Amino acid sequence: PDPNQAEFHLTAQKGKLEILDGVESHTLGYNGNYLGPVLRVREGEKVKVKMKNDLDEATTLHLHGLRVDGEMDGGPHSGIKPGERWEPEFTINQPAATLWYHPHMMEKTAKQVYEGLAGLIYIEDENSDQLAIPKEYGVNDFPIIIQDRQLDASGSMEYDPGMNDVMMGLYGDTYLVNGAIKPYLEVPKGIVRLRLLNGSNGRTYHFELSNRSEFYQIASDGGLLEEPVEMTTLRQSPAERAEVLVDFSKFKTGDTVSLVDVSTDAKIELMEFVVTNKESGVNEIPTQLAKISHYDPNNAVKTRQFVMSGVGATLTINDKTMDMTRIDEEVKWNDTEIWEVTNQRTGIKGGMAHPFHLHGVQFQVIDRDGEKPPENETGWKDTILIQPGETVRIITSFKNKGIFMYHCHILEHEDAGMMGQYEVK
Ligand code: C2O
Ligand code: CU
Ligand code: CU
Repeated sequence: PDPNQAEFHLTAQKGKLEILDGVESHTLGYNGNYLGPVLRVREGEKVKVKMKNDLDEATTLHLHGLRVDGEMDGGPHSGIKPGERWEPEFTINQPAATLWYHPHMMEKTAKQVYEGLAGLIYIEDENSDQLAIPKEYGVNDFPIIIQDRQLDASGSMEYDPGMNDVMMGLYGDTYLVNGAIKPYLEVPKGIVRLRLLNGSNGRTYHFELSNRSEFYQIASDGGLLEEPVEMTTLRQSPAERAEVLVDFSKFKTGDTVSLVDVSTDAKIELMEFVVTNKESGVNEIPTQLAKISHYDPNNAVKTRQFVMSGVGATLTINDKTMDMTRIDEEVKWNDTEIWEVTNQRTGIKGGMAHPFHLHGVQFQVIDRDGEKPPENETGWKDTILIQPGETVRIITSFKNKGIFMYHCHILEHEDAGMMGQYEVK
C-alpha cells in the first residue's frame, strides 16, 4: 500500500439503537449501530475507501460535497449489492471543510439515511492548520448531527412515510443529536467549535442558543467563510453544514445553555451544553478565515434554467422526474456556468421551500431574486434552500468529469424523482 494514501474501512451494517429506555429500534450504521465515523483527510491527500455492504439490500456510498469524478461520487449508478464491496480512490482537491457521506440508491436514499447511514468528512488544509480556531476533536471541536425521527406507538423508529410525508418531506416528533435525545455535552470555557449537519430527511431548522446570545458562523457547506458571520439564529435546511464558534468564556463552571430549534412555535430544546472548569485554549474569534476567489458572472459561458415544482406528490425539475437512463444536461469540462434555479409557486400556500443540491462541485451564490445573498451564503455551497417563488442564481466551474446528480435534498422528494442528471465531458 502507498504510505501516502489514507485508507478508510466502512461497513454498512444492521444495528440497534435504544432511543427510549428499553425500546430497541432497528437501525443501520457504518461500522456500528447508528451513523458512522468521521473521516479525516487533508487537501492534496490520496484517499482510498474500502466500503463493504453487509445489509440485506443494495446501497451506495455518496460523498456529499466532495469534488471527485462521477465514478467516485457514489451516486445511484454505483450500487453495491449485499455482501459486495466498492472501493473508490481519489485525491482531495478542495479546501478545509465539513462534508458528509450517505447512501444514494434510487428510491432508497430516504429510508437508508433515516435508519442511520450518514457520517461526516473533515478536510483540513494549510490554512486551517494555521488558523487560531478550536480543532481538538471532542475537546473543543464537536460534530453535531441533528435529525428528527418519528417514533411509532411502541417507541421505535421505523421508516414508514405516508402520502403527506412524501409531499412535504418527513417531519418527526423526536429530535436526535448524534443519535441521542436531548443529550448534554461538556464544553470547556472559551471558544468552542460546533460542526453542524442537518441530517434530517425533510425538516429545516432555525437554531438559536437558549440565552439568545450570538455565535459566529465560520464555514458553510464547502469550506471556511472569508470572515466569521455574527448571528443569533442560523437557518439550516437538510444536508447543509455550518461550522459555528460559540463563546463560553463568560460562563461559570456548571452553567448550562441549550441549542434550540425555533422553526416552530414549540421551541425545541435539542441538546444542552454544560460548561466545565477546563479551558478551550482559544479565546478570540478570528477576524479573517480564508481567501475565496469569487467567480465573475461575466465569465460564465452558459446559463441554464431549472424549475422545481411540487404539486401534491408530483415533484419535478423542469417538468421531469428522475430517469436513470436519461442525461438531462450536458456540460463541457472546465466551463463556468450559471444555474438559475426557480422554485415555482404552487397550490394555495404557494408551495414549500426546496433545498437544491448539486453533486461534484462547490458553487457560489450570485443572488437571490436579484439581491445579494446573506453573508453566510457568500462562501462555498453545495446545497441551497430556495423559497416558493424565489429564483437563486449559482455559479461554478465543472472540473470533474462524469455523471452527477442535482436534486432536492428533502429525501422524500429526491426518492419521488425530484432529481436530474448532468454529465461533464
Ligand atoms: Cu447528499 Cu445527492 O446528496
Ligand atoms: Cu451530494
Ligand atoms: Cu423538495
